[in-house]
Amino acid sequence: MAKKQSLCLLIIAVLISSFCAVLAARQPHIVFVLADDYGWYDVGYHKSEIRTPNLDKLSAQGVRLENYYVQPLCTPSRNQLMTGRYQIHTGMQHQIIWPCQPYCVPLDEKLLPELMKDAGYNTHMVGKWHLGMYKKDCLPTRRGFDTYFGYLLGSEDYNTHVRCYHIAPLNASRCALDFRDGEEVATGYKGHYSTEVFSQRAVSVIAKHNPNKPLFLYVALQAVHEPLQVPERYLTPYSFIKDPHRKLYAGMVSAMDEAVGNITLALQQAGLWDDTVLVFSTDNGGQTLAGGSNWPLRGRKWSLWEGGVRGVGFVTSSLLKKPGTVSHELMHISDWLPTLVGLAGGSTNATKPLDGFNMWNTISKGFASPRLELLHNIDPLYVDIAPCPGTKRQLTLAQVVSGGSSTNSGFNVSIHAAIRSSNWKLLTGYPGCDIWFPRPGHNSSESIPLKVDPLKSVMLFDIEKDPEERNEVSAKFPAVVEYLLGRLQQYQKSAKPINFPDDDPKCDPGPTGAWGPWA
Ligand SMILES: *[C@@H]1O[C@H](CO)[C@@H](O)[C@H](O)[C@H]1NC(C)=O
Ligand SMILES: *[C@@H]1O[C@H](CO)[C@@H](O)[C@H](O)[C@H]1NC(C)=O
Ligand SMILES: *[C@@H]1O[C@H](CO)[C@@H](O)[C@H](O)[C@H]1NC(C)=O
Ligand SMILES: *[C@@H]1O[C@H](CO)[C@@H](O)[C@H](O)[C@H]1NC(C)=O
Ligand SMILES: *[C@@H]1O[C@H](CO)[C@@H](O)[C@H](O)[C@H]1NC(C)=O
Repeated sequence: MAKKQSLCLLIIAVLISSFCAVLAARQPHIVFVLADDYGWYDVGYHKSEIRTPNLDKLSAQGVRLENYYVQPLCTPSRNQLMTGRYQIHTGMQHQIIWPCQPYCVPLDEKLLPELMKDAGYNTHMVGKWHLGMYKKDCLPTRRGFDTYFGYLLGSEDYNTHVRCYHIAPLNASRCALDFRDGEEVATGYKGHYSTEVFSQRAVSVIAKHNPNKPLFLYVALQAVHEPLQVPERYLTPYSFIKDPHRKLYAGMVSAMDEAVGNITLALQQAGLWDDTVLVFSTDNGGQTLAGGSNWPLRGRKWSLWEGGVRGVGFVTSSLLKKPGTVSHELMHISDWLPTLVGLAGGSTNATKPLDGFNMWNTISKGFASPRLELLHNIDPLYVDIAPCPGTKRQLTLAQVVSGGSSTNSGFNVSIHAAIRSSNWKLLTGYPGCDIWFPRPGHNSSESIPLKVDPLKSVMLFDIEKDPEERNEVSAKFPAVVEYLLGRLQQYQKSAKPINFPDDDPKCDPGPTGAWGPWA
């Protein structure tokens, strides 16, 4: 009798656990690794001189996204990742959130982690937030993450975790800690390199996770944004790199690659790997002033040229129906929200109208992309703040368009904007630094074209044939130009007014405090 009973219990236990396994299979664990300022040319599989064995291997087993777009800057890419909506629809089309600006992603936006939580996931975040923190309601822990460990701003020191900033209304420079565990200031990490600290925290989140619950883990690494800092041991393989910036950057990439390897190993050791969808993405193009390279693409971070917006990205998972493939289908960072919530079996009913598309069939099965068009951005206040070789050409452009000419479409072509529609990309205004930066370790003569067209206020490129944006064809395709200007005008009509407030002096952490909510 006792035997029968325990057999019965055993059967029930087996049934329950297989039921749970089915549920788990239906709701995969999702781990999203976001790199910072990681350039197109800086991953091994793009023939870089920088070695990324983990990224190469994981992406070779998965699907490499080679027609994948991000925004040209940190806050905008993160904003679109979290909302599934274009920047123009959140009033955040201009720049980034600076440390003392009193705003954040609008609180009436429902964010990705909230939707994952509604779908039953445990949600954790490690790393860089950069979506606003002036009041507590803006913090990651109040916007859908069960736990958070990381920094709220950007550009701090990798070892001290201190961010220096000049508070304009106080005419005072402050250097203060920006590191938090949950909502509390995290001291005690001084001297610990952030790439290692963050991967260790991600590993510990994974190790502690109850495998019967679906996991959503967002790891927004500090790597490989400037300042250029890296422990000596990561530089060993790069003695052949002469440019000191590039060399440090290469070491930082190696540390990041190791971090991704460690996170993957932790997922395997915790028995989660077979049910995991791992996404890797950069947030924007590389910063050529700080060791990054987007060769052979034109421009860089902070520009709407391909070097600013074409992103390194891939997905690895045993759930992929066509692993080991390369996708050339058009995809954008705003597509992750509907894609991941769809995988989670969740609902996007509670969001505002999405600009993103569910791309899972495209990624997993190779179906044609549902996305036919992509608004890169419209920013009437745009300025390029970093030095760009040959900026005289920007002045020429300003003369050409001074006063702001508009077209039949009504769109003011002095405005910094870009839109993609199938193979076409139209740019208006000054797109940002327009140089073809030479391939690292090679002579610049190799990249500088014989004849450089002057910039025009309206430029058209066939990106499929001409991803390097060398051949401007607006004169040949006036109908395409008019159509795309009309689309820009329609988007501009749907834009929210720009929110870009002045620095609030109340942000001041004082000589001993930490950056954090002040309102
Ligand atoms: C700001 O401070 C600096 C040095 O502390 C001083 O030289 C400068 O005049 C100040 N500027 C204003 C506008 O007060
Ligand atoms: C990866 O794990 C190894 C072994 O635990 C550790 O020594 C190394 O520091 C880790 N690397 C990173 C970037 O976290
Ligand atoms: C979302 O909306 C659709 C269509 O209105 C409805 O069928 C579905 O039940 C809703 N889902 C949730 C989770 O509310
Ligand atoms: C057109 O846009 C530019 C750049 O934003 C602006 O300076 C100019 O005033 C605008 N012109 C008109 C007519 O609105
Ligand atoms: C670049 O060109 C210079 C002068 O022509 C030459 O001395 C040098 O070796 C070249 N460097 C590379 C990396 O090709």
